[in-house]
This record gives sequence, structure tokens and C-alpha cells, in this order.
Amino acid sequence: MSGRRILLGVTGGIAAYKSADLVRRLQDRGAQVRVVMTRGARAFVTPLTFQAVSGNPVHTDLLDEAAEAGMGHIELARWADVVLVAPATANFMARVAHGLADDLLSTLCLATAAPLVFAPAMNQKMWSNAATQDNCAILTERAVRLIGPASGGQACGETGPGRMVEPVELAAAVLSGSPGLLEGRHVVVTAGPTYEDIDPVRYIGNRSSGKMGFAVAAAAVAAGARVSLVSGPVKLPTPSGVSRTDVRGASEMRDVAIRLASSADVFISVAAVADYTPARPSTQKIKKGLPKQKLELVSTPDIVAEVAALEDRPFTIGFAAETEKLKEHALEKLSRKRLDMIAANRVGLSGAGFDSETNEILILSRDGEKYLGKGSKHHLAGLLVEEVADRLKGIDRIDTSTDKNTRPASGN
Ligand code: C5P
Repeated sequence: MSGRRILLGVTGGIAAYKSADLVRRLQDRGAQVRVVMTRGARAFVTPLTFQAVSGNPVHTDLLDEAAEAGMGHIELARWADVVLVAPATANFMARVAHGLADDLLSTLCLATAAPLVFAPAMNQKMWSNAATQDNCAILTERAVRLIGPASGGQACGETGPGRMVEPVELAAAVLSGSPGLLEGRHVVVTAGPTYEDIDPVRYIGNRSSGKMGFAVAAAAVAAGARVSLVSGPVKLPTPSGVSRTDVRGASEMRDVAIRLASSADVFISVAAVADYTPARPSTQKIKKGLPKQKLELVSTPDIVAEVAALEDRPFTIGFAAETEKLKEHALEKLSRKRLDMIAANRVGLSGAGFDSETNEILILSRDGEKYLGKGSKHHLAGLLVEEVADRLKGIDRIDTSTDKNTRPASGN
């Protein structure tokens, strides 16, 4: 990551005070940081603070002759490898979504060719407001990457989504994995739950939110891969740069996944695929009245095992969500499904697993194990992608004709 040039935009929210720490966290990861502050941001924190932590003069004005004579707005726009705006207020996102360029930071966002990453931070009602959500949809559509917001207690005393993601996690999400680690690779990720229809109004589903799989897809894009995401029903925006196909049931997920996997370099199966599906889904709504109902279930296809059995298989990674005997069950799956790697995580504990922002992962492969630790799903996804890239090093295209023991998972 050494020397990545981050242009940090700070806008006028109370979370601006955390952005001074963000500068440090980015520098810890080897980045060069230049800071641009809006007028609103300067009402919360002084430019002197950011000048002191970044070691560079802070940029504040578009129409400042002295500043333009030095590093002007076009130079700044060209200098940046990434423009990270944290915190990004509702007003700032609205202005960028609509192409306004009425101050230095919004002008830079229009003028730069670098990827834009926004960390929204605002009151939870402002975040949920339809106008903000529409603006987020426009930004995501235009490949602006949104990280967060996180949920929790807010400075205004309310609780809900709208907190800026913590600096250490933001730095990890923006900088994890060298860009180019997966350059030229095609990565397929499955994510979310599957819904198995019982009749036109009822289904069997599960608690998977899709957050981990979406974070893995985003991390793979950040590492330079071409990423295809096959998603079950979830309420998440598509990470920028990801090509997404929405599916509903396990059999539909299987068809799309197998088609994509047959030309992929890496397959990461994060989806919580249903194990059983109704044998004969009813075409009409099943009426009540009978004292007992029987629902016959049949097994679904094991998608990741099918991918691992493909003749020209990609490097195949599964996830094992377990409530007990984590390692034992994960190792059994690694071997039975003939995977190259498995990411094991415990579910059912508070703060880990389904629908939470955080997770704890242990990865296992034939040549050993590595504990990735606890952290945000974005952070862990970055570490997982680094691990995968490490196994792929020096391998043009995985040769499945070789013996298992010579595969990259075995450390060769
Ligand atoms: O067997 P279990 O569901 O615990 O295995 C988990 C791993 O297998 C995950 O990677 C999951 O995405 C994958 N899987 C699958 N198809 C299924 C069931 C699980 O791809 N039908």
C-alpha cells in the first residue's frame, strides 16, 4: 500500500473530529494524505489540526489565488489515487449526486478520475430520508463506493444507522489489499440467503443479511479483480464496480454460479444456501383448515461442492457458519466438499455472524490454519482477499490436472 495518495475530504458533521485520527490510520498503512475541508467542517475542527496530523497544508478554498498558484484544484484532482470523503454529510452527498461544484471539495469530486469513496455520517432520520436514499442510489450507480454508515448511539442522542464507520475500519476498507493484488482475475462471489418457495406467498429462508459476501465482493474489486456477485434476496446496494445477478432459490443460484464459475479464477461461496427445498411447491396459496400439514422437502444442490468438482475448477473457498465445534465441522466441510480453503465463523453469539456488522474468522486449508481475528466485515473481507491473492501468486490459471497436493492451498 506504500505511498497510496489519499485525498481526504472532511465535511461538516460532528464525526469530523474523528477524521484527524483517520489521517493517522491511513498513514499507518503507508498512505500519503492531503486534506480538503469544507466550510462546514471548519466549524467543527480547525485546519491546523489536520495540517499537524497530515504534515501538509490543508486545502479549503476554490477561489483562493495563493492556493491555486500552489497545488490548485486540478492538480489535487490529478494527484489523488483515491478521494475519500469522511464524514460525508447528507448535504454533501446530495450536491455530488447532482453534479454541483460550488466549493473546492465538490469540484474535486467532479474533476478527478480517481475512485470516490464516501463514509456517510448523519442523524439516522436524515439517513433514512427518501431524498438521501435516492442520492445514495445515484452515487452508487455512478460507482461511488459508500462505506457505512454504522448503527448505534448518535451524537444527537438518537440510536440508529448514521454513525461514521470507525477510522481504523475505514482505513482498512480503503487500503486493504494492494490494488492490483487480484488484477486480471475473475472472482465469483455468492452472497445472502436463498428463499425456497412453498407456495406463491410463503417460503423457507434464513437470517443471512448478505453483508459478509458483499464486503468480500467489494474487497475483491478493490484488489483489482473483475467481480461477479450472485446474490440471494437482500437489502443491500451493489458495491461499485461489481457485476451483480439477483437470484431467489438454491437451484437458480446454482445455475448462475456454475455458469460464471466455469470461467472464473476464484469462487468464494459466502451464501447461506438452504439445504432443503419443498419437493412440490404449490402454484396456488395453500389454504388453512386441515388440522395438520406435511411439507415434503428435498435436498438442494451443494453449489460450492459442484464448483469444486468442475473439471477446470477455480480456486474454491467456502464459508462455514457453525454454532458449535467450529474447527471440527469446518475441516470436515473442507475435505468433503474438496475445497481449497474454508472461512469458519461462529454464529449465534452476539456481535458475530448473521446480520451484524462484525465477524470473527478462522481460515483453514490443507496446509494449516490462520486466525484473521475479529473485526468489521469489510476489514475481514480485505484480509481474506489478501490471503486468497497470496495463494494465487505465480499461478496463471489454476491447473486442475495436477495432484491436489501441488495445488496452491497446499502451499506450493
Ligand atoms: O454445508 P454448509 O451449508 O454448512 O456449507 C457451507 C458452505 O457451503 C458455504 O460456503 C455455502 O455457501 C456452501 N453451500 C453451497 N450450497 C449448498 C449449501 C452450502 O454452496 N447447498
